Amino acid sequence: MTRPYQELHKLSILDREGFWAKEAQRIHWHKPYGKVLDYSKPPFAKWFVGGETNLCFNAVDRHLKDRGDQNALIWISTEVEKTETYTYRRLHAEVNRVAAMMQSLGLKRGDRVIIYMPNMPEAVFAILACARLGAVHSVVFGGFAATSLAARIDDAKPVLMVTADGGSRAGKVIPYKPLVDESIKLSRHPPAKVLIFNRGLDPQMPLVDGRDVDWVSLSGKFKDQAIDCVWLESSEPSYILYTAGTTGRPKGVQRDVGGHAVAMAASMEYIYCGAAGETIFTTSDIGWAVGHSYIIYAPLIAGLTSILYEGVPIRPDAGVWWKIVQDYRVNVMFSAPTAIRVLKKHDPALLKKYDLSSLKHLFLAGEPLDEPTHAWIAEGLRKPVIDHYWQTETGWPVLSAMHGVEKTPIKYGSPSFPAYGYDLKLLRESDASEAGADEKAVVAIEPPLPPGCMTTIWGDDERFVKTYFSTFSKKMVYSTFDWGIRDRDGYYFILGRTDDVINVAGHRLGTREIEEAVNMHPNIAECAVVGVADQLKGQMPLAFAVLKDAAKKTTSQDVMETVDRQLGAIGRPKAVHFVTLLPKTRSGKTLRRSIAALAEGRDPGDLTTIEDPGALQQIKDCLGVK
Ligand code: PRX
Repeated sequence: MTRPYQELHKLSILDREGFWAKEAQRIHWHKPYGKVLDYSKPPFAKWFVGGETNLCFNAVDRHLKDRGDQNALIWISTEVEKTETYTYRRLHAEVNRVAAMMQSLGLKRGDRVIIYMPNMPEAVFAILACARLGAVHSVVFGGFAATSLAARIDDAKPVLMVTADGGSRAGKVIPYKPLVDESIKLSRHPPAKVLIFNRGLDPQMPLVDGRDVDWVSLSGKFKDQAIDCVWLESSEPSYILYTAGTTGRPKGVQRDVGGHAVAMAASMEYIYCGAAGETIFTTSDIGWAVGHSYIIYAPLIAGLTSILYEGVPIRPDAGVWWKIVQDYRVNVMFSAPTAIRVLKKHDPALLKKYDLSSLKHLFLAGEPLDEPTHAWIAEGLRKPVIDHYWQTETGWPVLSAMHGVEKTPIKYGSPSFPAYGYDLKLLRESDASEAGADEKAVVAIEPPLPPGCMTTIWGDDERFVKTYFSTFSKKMVYSTFDWGIRDRDGYYFILGRTDDVINVAGHRLGTREIEEAVNMHPNIAECAVVGVADQLKGQMPLAFAVLKDAAKKTTSQDVMETVDRQLGAIGRPKAVHFVTLLPKTRSGKTLRRSIAALAEGRDPGDLTTIEDPGALQQIKDCLGVK
């Protein structure tokens, strides 16, 4: 017997156009689309061809009639001890104002804006104002330092940057503006203007005459402005979000407008079971895909109240999130496994202290959810905890239980089943044939990718095809670069990446990017960075470096500080070991997988191609393994 969730999935694959045409009714179209899908140029998929819409209109304006007085956004900051609520009406006014400010700074349709801000309401206004104007936003996570930011500036070539004087983490102020200034100095395509929201966190904030614009002063000129939404063709770009890959160069994941809006709205019902008028609390940073999709776009498009949280999960104590659930009657919550592993170290009684009766379920994604953590939180909360799997590239879940369709039982450690729209395959690495039950293989998606997924890499169609669709010579399929397995009951399990991407506390990082940061130290000749398992953070980077001049004193602390400055503290290696040579193949490839295996106490695999076995011995000596 086919189950309801399987029925929905089957329909979405067998009748793609029919399925998505129905879903497209969830949003407002200024001009109806002609064709549901144009797939004449594989693997590029164009959804809802010719249709015109606007993300800001769907997220804000459309709700004014029926839910203007309902809260759209509730900002809670345990960093600056503030709470602020915005009804849809107030959000509309704020977004219009910021759109007017941006217009006055010369922003036009298609222009790019880099937003480098912490979780604060003005960041949401800026994002939605870009959408309103048809400008392309690119939010960069505040944890990235100047060099990473400069690389993103050079790729996106923004006309405007929006930032704040600083953020705060666990009570410690982190100045943002000096990093912005430094990144602009390093970049070849500096923005003409920088709009700064001064929160009063950094009294020493430097200003650049003629370029820097104070948010509050400028906003004074634009009270009660009404700025029309710019209607965009469905496939025009809405935003770019940079993510790590195999090379050191970050990839600008590009999203469209119409497909994105439809996918967001559908997922809110089928997967997250969130209805208009309900409240969702997604604990992510707005700089990540989860923040884009499930703090901002999906909840607002679907008419929910979204909680934006600035703070850590354990301040003032490890019950703070559950208190928020109680106080704001949260219905849907979305967090990351790392956060739960952090909470696990605290008093479990905190899970029972508050009234969580409003909460339907907790969703977790971003990294593998280990079985003990899954069991601990599900049993502690006595709520369904839904592990689900997706990527920046897909923008919404690829694997998940779909309790909006059918309440399937949860298996600990498994993100359940393929979501509607994804023709998911587990392919053998050797010949792209389909793997059987319980057989480890590459998680792949038969194109076209469904609406809401990346449409290309910003400015580089060729790289999009080469990176994602060229893993198998025999078959043009999208590779997730994850290993997976399906058990006999049809449940999937994700077993880690096939490439050099690591996941530190849910933050996706390329080991090449960290290597480039290490190499910026003047006394480092070369290095290898690998990810090793970490109880709390999932994975941590570990660096092995060769010095240029061994006589010159260089400590691991020096190298770590270089990484902090170049990439940001999130990329800082757990340890830096100094060696005189790295294990490489005869063709010069560093044996990263073997190093990682040794560091995790596993078998380093086939070493017959190694150039100099002495190099591996050095790694073993550093790690204290035999
Ligand atoms: O390796 C997979 C892991 O995180 C990667 C995507 O990270 P990012 O682009 O930051 O997107 C996060 C959006 C949720 C994936 O390729 N990953 C994500 N979710 C899971 C996971 N690994 C195991 N289980 C998951 N539920």
